[in-house]
Amino acid sequence: MRVRGIKWMTITWCLFLVLLVSGCYGENRESKPPATATDEVSVVTDYETPVNPKVTKPIVLGFSQLGSESTWREANTASIKEAAKEANITLIMTNADQDQHKQFEAIRSFIRRGVDIIAIAPVVQTGWEEILQEAKAADIPVIIIDRSLNVSDSSLYVTFIGSNFYEEGVKASKYMIDRMRHHTGTIRIAELQGTVSSTPSINRGLGFRKMIESNPRFQITQSKPGNFTQSGGKEAMREFLQEPRSQWPQVLFAHNDDMAIGAIEAIQEVGLKPGSDIIIISVDGTRRAFEQMVQGHINAVVECNPLLGPLVMQAAKEIMSGRTLPKRMITPEDIFTQELADRELANRKY
Ligand code: AHR
Repeated sequence: MRVRGIKWMTITWCLFLVLLVSGCYGENRESKPPATATDEVSVVTDYETPVNPKVTKPIVLGFSQLGSESTWREANTASIKEAAKEANITLIMTNADQDQHKQFEAIRSFIRRGVDIIAIAPVVQTGWEEILQEAKAADIPVIIIDRSLNVSDSSLYVTFIGSNFYEEGVKASKYMIDRMRHHTGTIRIAELQGTVSSTPSINRGLGFRKMIESNPRFQITQSKPGNFTQSGGKEAMREFLQEPRSQWPQVLFAHNDDMAIGAIEAIQEVGLKPGSDIIIISVDGTRRAFEQMVQGHINAVVECNPLLGPLVMQAAKEIMSGRTLPKRMITPEDIFTQELADRELANRKY
């Protein structure tokens, strides 16, 4: 039995993860009554094969999704729904429209309903202490997905599953430094940030800056938030291009693909060629961005993997079985350039 358990865990986690720090949470919560599911995606089909013989009821997972602002987010939501169905987990999912207070309301409703586990994709980094204390007081384990949060007490959540946003910024910056190596003089960079105070926006910005801080040739001359939306990216880029021509950027770093695509529209409006008059680097790696790369409009895309569903469901099952999980799980990711775009396009899953 023990050998089977170890083999099972090894296969599961090694398939998906780089394991960093080990955490120590994992109560068996079988005594809690299951929540009822009405407006949720309810996908239980198999009551016969429990993860652990002690766990006889379907797991009920309350998931507070932060919004539907981007193609990435849509893929993330779809991945969670599909994986819940596959895993026979009852999913109660709410969409907060990028509003932290709506996330609080959703989490409180999960607590009232007595779900087994709560998963949160936090819209911003701060302000979570109190609500997580409430979940802890109700004895409901919490999984953080996609974006991290700042809390003084790390026992308030079991594990954080998501990308290394800082590293994504570093990759974007390294590509730019190499791509611009033959240019002389100052290089003006425009930056389209995501949602203000969100982890990806903060950390991608930090990672990007880290690589150029000792090289004054690279100057971020314009920077605005575009809220991770296509319209936000277009609007901010239009504002950048209202500056005198001599101030226009030679490089655009967009914190996601949707904003990059919006910016491309704004760049074309003023008669410039995206991808050659302005070098464009973005983050996510959606199929839409790959299509833009194939057309020569985007030069490089740093991958950020939204397909977290299987990992989240696996973590939920592990927690319910009383197993210990790593405190941090990072999804492996790549960077793609125009040269690879055509070949890779067919493989994109989102
Ligand atoms: O948190 C992940 C980020 O959020 C993605 O890069 C972006 O597209 C999404 O809106």
